Amino acid sequence: MEYRIPLIAGNWKMFKTCNEAVNAATHLVKLVSDIDTVDIVIAPPFTSLTVVSEIIRETRIDLGAQDIFWEKEGAFTGEISAPMLISSGCQYVIIGHSERRQYFEETDEAVNKKIRAASDSGLIPILCVGETEIQRDEKKTFSVLDKQIEKGLEDLILDEHRPLVIAYEPVWAIGTGKTATPDQVQEVHAFLRDLIEKKFGNMISKATRILYGGSVKPDNVSELMALPDIDGALVGGASLQPDSFSKIIHF
Ligand code: PGA
Repeated sequence: MEYRIPLIAGNWKMFKTCNEAVNAATHLVKLVSDIDTVDIVIAPPFTSLTVVSEIIRETRIDLGAQDIFWEKEGAFTGEISAPMLISSGCQYVIIGHSERRQYFEETDEAVNKKIRAASDSGLIPILCVGETEIQRDEKKTFSVLDKQIEKGLEDLILDEHRPLVIAYEPVWAIGTGKTATPDQVQEVHAFLRDLIEKKFGNMISKATRILYGGSVKPDNVSELMALPDIDGALVGGASLQPDSFSKIIHF
């Protein structure tokens, strides 16, 4: 079977001041210094990117942002561009998180512009997709995901120099303590890999890492990571404490 290096990413959301972020990153660096077979990403708030990038320089931990705007520069008050993220030390950017879709009315069209801007500038996008509880109950999970992938990745050019990460995050499992069952996760991940194959071909589909997100904790991560199409996790709450995040990384 093909081998994809596992990726564990921590989404700190709107938590941690600069000092708190520095302390957490410093602690994490020590806790994961033995790791050499897992890629690690932390995504602090914009305000802490630069200070955290200094701390994780020359470690295995990469830096991610939680959002991006598609223009390079201009009169867009409050927005942050790809060149700004790169100059702050980022290699990754989370795009289309369900909280952005839900609370900030981010559409698939906006997600698509962000994905293309990130990828074209050399950042690795982590595209978040996932259905709500109502959509799952109404058996719309696969049509929702199909649309999010189709529209989100429209006109995107991918190759080995421009990889993509997908995070499947069922909205009903985020921050709720409810994790999708291994069967539910594997079923969706296999479906997503199939969609990527149809869109970008077999090579890209085999190389694309598909993460699971939604109440991942030290005690459920190993069961999820054992599934064939799960290549890692996007972790919210449990990434805020270096101890629990390190346990997840040591799955
Ligand atoms: P959670 O969040 O781990 O707290 O459920 C996951 C996410 O929103 O990325």
